[in-house]
Amino acid sequence: MRTARFTLDPAFTVGSVNPRLFGSFVEHLGRCVYTGIFEPDHPTADEDGIRRDVLELVKELGVTAIRYPGGNFVSGYKWEDSVGPAEDRPRRLDLAWHSTESNRFGLSEYIAFLRKIGPQAEPMMAVNLGTRGVAEALELQEYANHPSGTALSDLRRTHGDKDPFAIKLWCLGNEMDGPWQTGHKTAEEYGRIAAETARAMRQLDPTVELVACGSSGQSMETFAEWEATVLKETYDLVDYISLHAYYEPVDGDIDSFLASAVDMESFIENVVATCDHIGARLKSKKRINLSFDEWNVWYLSRWQEQATTFEQDDWPEAPRLLEDNYSVTDAVVFGSLLIALLRHADRVTVACLAQLVNVIAPIMTEPGGPAWRQTTFFPFAQAAQYGRGQVLDVRVDSPTYETKKYGEADLLHATAVRADDGTVTVFAVNRSRTEPLPLEVALNGLDLTRIVEHSVLADADPDARNTLDEPERVTPHPGGGAELTHGRLTAVLEPLSWNVFRLG
Ligand code: AHR
Repeated sequence: MRTARFTLDPAFTVGSVNPRLFGSFVEHLGRCVYTGIFEPDHPTADEDGIRRDVLELVKELGVTAIRYPGGNFVSGYKWEDSVGPAEDRPRRLDLAWHSTESNRFGLSEYIAFLRKIGPQAEPMMAVNLGTRGVAEALELQEYANHPSGTALSDLRRTHGDKDPFAIKLWCLGNEMDGPWQTGHKTAEEYGRIAAETARAMRQLDPTVELVACGSSGQSMETFAEWEATVLKETYDLVDYISLHAYYEPVDGDIDSFLASAVDMESFIENVVATCDHIGARLKSKKRINLSFDEWNVWYLSRWQEQATTFEQDDWPEAPRLLEDNYSVTDAVVFGSLLIALLRHADRVTVACLAQLVNVIAPIMTEPGGPAWRQTTFFPFAQAAQYGRGQVLDVRVDSPTYETKKYGEADLLHATAVRADDGTVTVFAVNRSRTEPLPLEVALNGLDLTRIVEHSVLADADPDARNTLDEPERVTPHPGGGAELTHGRLTAVLEPLSWNVFRLG
């Protein structure tokens, strides 16, 4: 196999990584909240019903911003149902996931959960622009953020939350272009309501940061047109446009699946181009950044099959939905998606892994039982820990392979991040299912002399996964044979592997 090469030079950077790139997402969907994060009867539950075993894993994962409460759920969300004494909260039908919502976990519990994670955890709250509008968004903002002295801020205080929640980051609805969305809208309709809501929310607090909904994916018919229309209405009122993307193998085509990040990178670049084009047309000096607030591997087609078998009159509480069990192959694709986000850290300044627990998640739980790490947990935790600093501009010269979906794709996908202390972490994926990939990295102008760690996620069985019965079947292992001499890192990447090289 030909050697894949690139050069690292501190003079060539992409931009600095915003910690919000390592965000995640908690939706009232399936068992993400109930029996995931929150299970008052669980042996590890704390006084607020939060599972301590899950909390520890969330801390280890290193997530920052946590988007809440949806997703599709938010389009039917009545925030006032989710506050006040738990025993008085109404039970509601959730149309998005055909479930019953008990509201036992609500806004106050979400904030308390974030505070338990620690200062790195930041709220990212979505308002309902599906079945509700400007007034309810403002009421929620006042309840959450106003210190005191008004009906809604004082109501929060009587509910036991003296301190405001200080929510800076707000999503103006969710996937409003999707026909599956309750309250689905045209781009013109959504652009209008998003602009009105943004204007009002800024009147209440000009320092809020607002995310307008982009289209639900690059494959949507209205993609780009949707973004352009929404941005024309909202450009000066919002800070971000959202992107969502999920990947799965189609018709067993693993080679294309492994190159999913090709699609993610083109998606990002297309949205950046649209934002800048509209900005230029409006003669605005402002730059709109990207909030990639839903991304993951998701076996969506399996869920769609499952959804067609739902009984119409069955509205279960916290059913097992979207509980994908991730393989090593999935984790390698997932790692490559993280690399794609890092490679665009100049414009993608918020990103949320969808989701956090049980629902297409890196953390799984059993009701009354243990919690464990999926294969995807490891790339995320490593990127969140070591992907902090300046992203170096990595241009790879790599052998390629042929894919049905994306044509010729590089076997190597890589990025590198330089921390403030001068150390560098290289993240690299070998997409070959069969061949080891020799790698050579020239370190121009970088004072690096040793490999602190080479960690590898790969397995002789690419389908290996962690399960309730075998929760530690897959974990990263130390790589062998990498060398750093005379300003050059050399290594051989195992077939189908995610690699982290920490250089000091
Ligand atoms: O993350 C699962 C769902 O995917 C979200 O609710 C929705 O926004 C998207 O379609």
